[in-house]
Amino acid sequence: MARRRDLGGLIFIDLRDRYGKTQMVVHPEESPDVTAQAHQLHAEWVIEADGIVQERPQGMVNRDLPTGEIEVKLTALTVLNPCPALPFQLDEADKASEELRLKYRYLDLRRPEVQEVFMLRHRVAQVVREHFSGEGFLEIETPFMVKSTPEGARDYLVPSRIFPGHFYALPQSPQIYKQLLMVAGFDRYFQIVRCFRDEDLRSDRQPEFTQVDVEITFADREVIFGTAERLFVKILKHAWGIDIATPLPRLTYQHVMDTYGSDKPDLRFGLPFSNLTDCLRGTDFRIIASSIEEGGVVIGLCVKGQAGVSRKELGELENLARQCGLPGLLSLKLTAEGLAGSLSGKISEAQAAAVCKELKSETGDLLLMAVGKKSAVLKGLGVLRRLLAERFRLFDPNSHENPSLFWVVDFPLFERNEETGEVAASHHPFTGYLTEDEHLLESEPWNVRSTAYDLVMNGSELLSGSIRIHDSAQQAKIFQLLKISDEEAQLRFGFLLEALRYGAPPMGGMAIGLDRTIMCLTGGSIRDVIAFPKTNLAQSLVDGSPSEVDPQLLKDLHLVIQKPKS
Ligand code: AMO
Repeated sequence: MARRRDLGGLIFIDLRDRYGKTQMVVHPEESPDVTAQAHQLHAEWVIEADGIVQERPQGMVNRDLPTGEIEVKLTALTVLNPCPALPFQLDEADKASEELRLKYRYLDLRRPEVQEVFMLRHRVAQVVREHFSGEGFLEIETPFMVKSTPEGARDYLVPSRIFPGHFYALPQSPQIYKQLLMVAGFDRYFQIVRCFRDEDLRSDRQPEFTQVDVEITFADREVIFGTAERLFVKILKHAWGIDIATPLPRLTYQHVMDTYGSDKPDLRFGLPFSNLTDCLRGTDFRIIASSIEEGGVVIGLCVKGQAGVSRKELGELENLARQCGLPGLLSLKLTAEGLAGSLSGKISEAQAAAVCKELKSETGDLLLMAVGKKSAVLKGLGVLRRLLAERFRLFDPNSHENPSLFWVVDFPLFERNEETGEVAASHHPFTGYLTEDEHLLESEPWNVRSTAYDLVMNGSELLSGSIRIHDSAQQAKIFQLLKISDEEAQLRFGFLLEALRYGAPPMGGMAIGLDRTIMCLTGGSIRDVIAFPKTNLAQSLVDGSPSEVDPQLLKDLHLVIQKPKS
């Protein structure tokens, strides 16, 4: 029961279930016993009600409710279970802390708007299953207790009772197993599967999350892209009722990084970057001159029609830039009266004109620029770009028209740790590389482009995948470049290397983040789309895990706990 109202001698009771609300009415003169019982009722009590469905009297019809034309005249009432006062009111849940709502998640989940998210999630899962089954894929489960293999994040471990000191890992993804399924001859596999990663959490990351995992033999990129695009056409039609045009655009990693400072830019608004270093080379302005001398760059963007921002607002933008990791922000306001902003008067007229031309700006525009090491400036401006778009309302975050949906391709195969110089796999070590870059493998490994791709929607990475290495010698070469010794490779993924020797077909695949996709469709954080999510410290507040366990369990597992000194 959602609530009771006593009005003009009548008692109205709103009955709530998954399908909506129904109004019940009690007439005191007609049913004094039921009336007495109804007076005892409180919100969230579970009741059984008998009555007669009737049309509401004239003037009482509620057009906003699907059940607004009828009411149930109560003839009998049984309380099946009372309920104490709730820790927070369901219709005022936004006033409760997220911690409280997560502790009582089962109450939070009663809210109709929260339930709608899970109804959508269910329907999208159905669309996924129908799509893949319809295209001839088999849904096959892979194990949850697997060998610990490095795949980017830290593993969650499960100790073995039978083999002291030995552990299983919970899979970060079914990557190796789906490749083994391809070697086994299952040419088209998919699975809606839980993955586990012990990594720093954010608003779009959970320690356990769900992927739609896919692998196809003899597939090139076109086959994978087509499969994914046909699915997303159905998902967006179903969830938002919109038609998206395919094939989706493909942008290179290099392009999106240089133009938007992110490998998952939101393109619902413009604000592309331009490298202004050449326009400003030779300036006397110290901040720029010294940075260029040290090999730095000047990168800027143009906010259309915002030359009217005040000095105070510019100060706020500078603070925002610092929060984004930039040392500062230079500005030029192209007002009708001439140039203003922190850079006006500091650079020559010719330089200012070159900057304006490069940024394709005109009178009325605001130009913002940052100076420093290229990678740091791009990264900082990439974060700032999104905040600027929100601040200047350059797009409607709630609009379902024209989502920004595209592929990012040609990722670098390796990432270089700027401090140690060490190379690591950008995607995972089983990712292939472009044959035209093979000659760079030894000399400039960080310039080798991989066969990996991502699908990005409204600034969120929804899907990631690659065409794999199917040749064990090539795979061994990659391990060597990653400084994974033969011994270590054998120890960690000897079973995969061996399988690849037994007639492995070429293969490629992808994994769609299902939670991320639902999050993108509904807005909000990833915690809103998972029934029982974890906090940012990977705690489950509903059951209080992680928790200490019975010492006997530890003994059985041959484990001794050494707590860190605080
Ligand atoms: P990747 O690690 O990029 O690739 O993951 C694929 C997709 O899964 C989602 N995702 C997450 N969602 C929520 N919380 C997390 N912690 C999290 N981590 C990843 C993202 C991401 O795009 N085996 C490869 C795929 C392949 O190559 O086929 C893989 O797991 O949406």
